[in-house]
Amino acid sequence: MSMSALSTSLGILQLKNPVMLAAGILGISGPVLKRVAKAGAGAVVTKSIGPEPREGYINPSVISLNEFSCLNAVGLSNPGYLEFSKEISVAKQGGVPVIVSIFGAEIEEFCKIAKEMEKNGADALELNLSCPHGGKYGASIGQDSKLTGEIVNAVKSTVRIPIFVKLTPNVTDLIPIAKSAEDNGADAITAINTVRAMSIDIETAMPILSNKYGGLSGPAIKPIAIKHIYDLYKEVEIPLIGVGGIVSWKDAVEFFLAGATALQIGTGLLYLESYMDIFNKITEGILNFLKRKGNIHLEEIIGLSHRL
Ligand SMILES: Cc1cc2nc3c(=O)[nH]c(=O)nc-3n(C[C@H](O)[C@H](O)[C@H](O)COP(=O)(O)O)c2cc1C
Repeated sequence: MSMSALSTSLGILQLKNPVMLAAGILGISGPVLKRVAKAGAGAVVTKSIGPEPREGYINPSVISLNEFSCLNAVGLSNPGYLEFSKEISVAKQGGVPVIVSIFGAEIEEFCKIAKEMEKNGADALELNLSCPHGGKYGASIGQDSKLTGEIVNAVKSTVRIPIFVKLTPNVTDLIPIAKSAEDNGADAITAINTVRAMSIDIETAMPILSNKYGGLSGPAIKPIAIKHIYDLYKEVEIPLIGVGGIVSWKDAVEFFLAGATALQIGTGLLYLESYMDIFNKITEGILNFLKRKGNIHLEEIIGLSHRL
């Protein structure tokens, strides 16, 4: 079966393959992003890039809890948007869309960074409104539907490239926030960012992460992400990008059935022995599934669980 069975689009952005790299994982350097693209990712999302260089929190900042979950409070470490901008052209040599994840503390910062990223060749932007440990840059924005709408609106009128809005699951109800993003021009919703969590060392009685709390990712959060994608599919028209705990083609198919149009892989890259092979393995698994179901196109299974 040909790869064309996997083609999909997010606004005006065409993807040959819906399996993308998630923000924050191997996403800070152009050559590494290029390598991820060559390893079979359908698009790459960069580490979240902000207004100025940030070192992030001191270690421990990422811990593996068990085979099902990972806890991180990296603290949005990044070189700042001016320094990062030169990485984009290198990343683009990978031949797939480069989506720059950006964050800021206020509307003007988002717009300034968005403009610069577009100028330097970004194919789309993902607004990170959802870091659970980012202080003034974090989820407090994505927990507020009015502010979310204002930021999306302002960025939308600043750039022409598609805008994805990445939401936090750390809210009572994701729907009004997603709707506000949609009403203000978002081209897609990415769900979910990590789930607020912490871990304590029983011998020292101290929180393990230097920041005390952080965000849970990996297979433990997959059912939470599936539920959000399922709910969002019923309420918004724009495409959904599913992320949270995908490590196999079966996880991927589950997200499509719930309503995702494309996917992102984060922690899966940190865990699997297969490492970067994960993109090809998942893509191959999805293709085999579509073949087994009667040579159907991916589109036919998107949101299928709602129609049965
Ligand atoms: C070490 C690490 C760093 C991350 N950094 C970012 C980031 O900079 N921006 C962002 O939007 N999400 C970030 N995330 C969240 C992931 O993109 C993703 O939403 C989340 O981990 C759930 O997916 P997963 O279970 O496949 O990892 C990070 C996750 C991890 C584990």
